[in-house]
Amino acid sequence: MAKKQRAKLVVGNWKMNGSIAENDTLLNGLVQRAATLESRVLLGVCVPYPYLAQVQMQLTGTPIAYGVQDVSAYTHGAYTGDVSARMVAEFGVTLAIVGHSERRTLHTESSKLVAAKAQRALEANIIPIVCVGETLDERRAGQTNTVIHAQLTAVLDTLDKDHVARLIVAYEPVWAIGTGQSATAQQAQQVHAVLRKQLTTRGGIRVPLLYGGSVKPDNAEELFSQVDIDGGLIGGASLSEIDFLAISAGSL
Ligand code: 13P
Repeated sequence: MAKKQRAKLVVGNWKMNGSIAENDTLLNGLVQRAATLESRVLLGVCVPYPYLAQVQMQLTGTPIAYGVQDVSAYTHGAYTGDVSARMVAEFGVTLAIVGHSERRTLHTESSKLVAAKAQRALEANIIPIVCVGETLDERRAGQTNTVIHAQLTAVLDTLDKDHVARLIVAYEPVWAIGTGQSATAQQAQQVHAVLRKQLTTRGGIRVPLLYGGSVKPDNAEELFSQVDIDGGLIGGASLSEIDFLAISAGSL
């Protein structure tokens, strides 16, 4: 059978979950079994800050990348509670989710702030995974393309072309996150095609586009087989080694 060409990227977003003991089991399982996946799938995990030393210890020297779920929009200074991109880079972090809908909603993050965070990450040699996505009301009102276009535009307007070329973008429809109701492969592909066009026009190169929102072992293969879906950003299912690896295998 002809092989698909591009490596898929599957990144786990642990959100605010984990403990040192649970992480140890999960990471050991991932490291042991990741070797059974072909090299055409790249794995990553984005973990809470307190576990960075642990993932650095357990994942350094393995093919699994690791990252964080947010970075500060500032480089340093009087920003109590913030964590800078430069700080996490010292732990070998290569990925940072920015603009997740849980932060946009629960912490009222604007697209402009998300753009600044993406810029800080890139300055620290960290690849930002910029999340965009519409709410159910916005989808029902036929505003999906307008909303995601505007969210991405704020980032593209802030970054120079070299930085745009290093982005990862994740389409995460808000209504699909943690609900068990994934977008269909066709719905996801449709939005990814819009994002692809916008990025190609602005950046000129093929930026990896991940889909996130209730990705499970039983829907991963169909989602990942879409022409503009380069992998996934996985929430709940990334906490189970079995499910996360089954999803990753579905990308082959
Ligand atoms: P779920 O996979 O739990 O729906 O979460 C998706 C997500 O928010 C990944 O960032």
